[in-house]
Amino acid sequence: MSLAKNVRPMNRHRNGRHGAKYTGNQSKRLRPKSKSHPKRGKKSPAGNLKAKAPRWAATGRGTWRKEVQRVLITEEQIEKRIKILARDIERDFHGREMVVVSLLNGTVMFLADLMRHLNLPLRLDFMGVSSYGSGTESGELVFTKELRLDVRGRDVLLIDDILDTGKTLRHVLPKLRALKPRRIKICVLLDKPSRRIENIHADYAGFEIPDDFVVGYGLDFAERYRNLPFVGVLHPHVYKQACKQICRK
Ligand code: PRP
Repeated sequence: MSLAKNVRPMNRHRNGRHGAKYTGNQSKRLRPKSKSHPKRGKKSPAGNLKAKAPRWAATGRGTWRKEVQRVLITEEQIEKRIKILARDIERDFHGREMVVVSLLNGTVMFLADLMRHLNLPLRLDFMGVSSYGSGTESGELVFTKELRLDVRGRDVLLIDDILDTGKTLRHVLPKLRALKPRRIKICVLLDKPSRRIENIHADYAGFEIPDDFVVGYGLDFAERYRNLPFVGVLHPHVYKQACKQICRK
């Protein structure tokens, strides 16, 4: 994501509670066996992660705490939503020759998690597209990788991490259509309708989000934060600082 993306944070959206609870409704088979629980203070066989620690705590939350203002969408919320998206996609693509076309680089985590829940025969390919901007201005779109699979007559599921202004998909769609697929359906993890400039609509959208500067779960700021397992709101001081440095050059 270039520096130009979503630089007006708003507080319209509040994330819910973090962490999925064990409700007691799970089948016996899924219940954790008490004897396999590590005792307080002792290490589990797999390492020293305690059973109740949030998963992202192990990824060095402390490192990001000063840079990520808050968690907007938790790992658990993403996981739950992706399963629902996968079921919708399966229903719509049932019996079809499906080609998943994923846009690099931001889709890596979303794609990997979505695909493992898609119980359909499919082919996978990537298109590389990136916007190169300077300062806070939106940059030119550059294709960095072309599609190699033949999509002619096939059903394409086009995956992107975020639908923001819509400029990226406006450039990608004609390129794909020229390859004569039977149809193209668009699937995005995040949809930010308040920023839309182009008339682009996602067929499957994970979460509608406000105009916050979001990072994590594949989304970057200046190529950082892609490895965060949740979607978080970047603290304004981070991108303001970066803008200052660029503007000085
Ligand atoms: C980001 C994101 C989307 C695009 C959405 O890509 O991955 O593809 O911006 O914005 P838009 O709707 O305003 O076009 P970016 O060019 O930053 O590359 P990346 O995927 O490598 O982060």
